[in-house]
Parts: sequence; structure tokens; C-alpha cells
Amino acid sequence: MVSRTIFCLSAFLVLSVLATSASSSKILSPYYYNHVCPKALPTIKRVVEAAVYKERRMGASLLRLHFHDCFVNLGGPTWAVQLGRKDSTTASRDKANNDLPSPFMDLPALINSFKRQGLNERDLVALSGGHTLGSAQCFTFRNRTHNDTNIDPKFAKQRKSTCPLVGGDSNLAPLDPTPARFDVAYFNGLVKKRGLLHSDQALFNGGSTDGLVKAYSSNAKAFWADFAKSMVKMGNINILTGKQGQVRLNCRKVN
Ligand SMILES: *[C@@H]1O[C@H](CO)[C@@H](O)[C@H](O)[C@H]1NC(C)=O
Ligand SMILES: *[C@@H]1O[C@H](CO)[C@@H](O)[C@H](O)[C@H]1NC(C)=O
Repeated sequence: MVSRTIFCLSAFLVLSVLATSASSSKILSPYYYNHVCPKALPTIKRVVEAAVYKERRMGASLLRLHFHDCFVNLGGPTWAVQLGRKDSTTASRDKANNDLPSPFMDLPALINSFKRQGLNERDLVALSGGHTLGSAQCFTFRNRTHNDTNIDPKFAKQRKSTCPLVGGDSNLAPLDPTPARFDVAYFNGLVKKRGLLHSDQALFNGGSTDGLVKAYSSNAKAFWADFAKSMVKMGNINILTGKQGQVRLNCRKVN
């Protein structure tokens, strides 16, 4: 929720300028705010850094927000963010639920889900590496820890201790052993059958993505480079620019 507030705030800061802007470029650009609102980026950086400092899970929340809206730096990769994405004037809960990959998916379904957005298997594995940050709620991994067989038994036991068969749906567990570090521990976990979500372990389960998971697990630079590339690619999905879309005053609803 706080992440929404940050984005709303930043959107609000630039709204008045954007409203009078004649810009109608059809592509995003890292320089979008240079003229329309030079203070936007330093302001956003300051607010985001303060928020992440206060609550480290914020980094993961922001990553998730970016992912959800298209489909920070905690150490880790940096890249030139393509700016100027407008908010949609419509929203569909059904479409969002249908288009977003779920934590219960197997590899073919994940590949398909990404393919529908123009993303390939490398994007899938690199972006799943975003699970190097943050946590997941018990209801998203209960079936995996209780029913899956491609899981390290000791790991399953540990996770079940905070995610019982009944109740505790929102109890949190880290997505990798170092949930505040942008490292390759997530991929190392997969190689050891310690992926938290069914959809995480699906990436290393004898299928076509095993090789890439293995490669990233020992090569942080390759992971970071591909992650940055795939984030830019994801940021360009279904863009609205210029006179299309709007900058919402309240991110939760159309103006
Ligand atoms: C385990 O799988 C069975 C059969 O699909 C299902 O009925 C049960 O609810 C699952 N257990 C959990 C904890 O999800
Ligand atoms: C629960 O896990 C079992 C074993 O992996 C699987 O067959 C079943 O489809 C899963 N159920 C859900 C709802 O994901």
C-alpha cells in the first residue's frame, strides 16, 4: 500500500506539468522528465530510498508493482528506466487475473504466460530472479510444501513449521535465504530443490530452463545483465504514451 502511495505521490508531483505538456512521443525514454519535470526523479529517488530504509520489503513490493502494472536499488543491477508510461483509463480484474502468471503454474504454463506478453524463456528465468527479494504468503506455497515431491525434505519441514495445513494463510516466508540482497541465492536454492513457490521450482525441474538457472546460480553478473534487459523489455509491454491514457491522481481509480 505504501508503494502505491509513493507512486501516487510521484504521479501527483508531475501531473500539473504533464497536463500542459505537448509531448506525444510514441516511445518511452529515460529522459522523459528532463524537460517536463526535472525534479521528478530526484524526488522519487529520495522518497523511495526513505521508504526502503524504513521497510526493506518495500524493494520487493515495488518490483512486484512494476511487474503487475506491465503485464531501486538494494545493491544489484541498475539500468536506464524507460519513462513516460501512462496509467490506463480502464481496468479489468478478470484480465489481470488471467494474464498474470500464478505461483501454482508448471513450466509450460509459465512459458505460455510470458510468451503472450512477448517475453521469452530467458526473460521468464531472469525476471523470476526478482524473487531474490521479498517474501510470499503461506497460502501461495502450502500445497508445494505439503504435496510436491521435487522439494528438499528438510526445507519442506522448515517451511511447514510456519505454514500449517490449516490457518496462517498470510504467514510470510522469504523467497530465498537472503530476501534483502539482490544476489543469486534464489537460483542456488532452485538447484537444491529449495524453491519456495511451485512456479519457482518449475524453472529447475528437468525442463528447458534448467541450464539457465544453473548458469545464473554461479554468475551474478550474467543474471544482473539479463534482469536489467528483461525489466526494460517488460516496461515496454502495452505502453500508453502521449495523449493515450492518463496520470492518475489516485492510482486505485481512473481520474
Ligand atoms: C494436497 O493434494 C491433495 C490432492 O490434490 C489436495 O486435496 C490437498 O488439499 C493438498 N494439500 C494441500 C495442503 O494443499
Ligand atoms: C498440489 O500439488 C500437487 C502435487 O504437486 C499437484 O498435483 C496439484 O495439482 C496441486 N494443486 C494445486 C491446486 O496447485
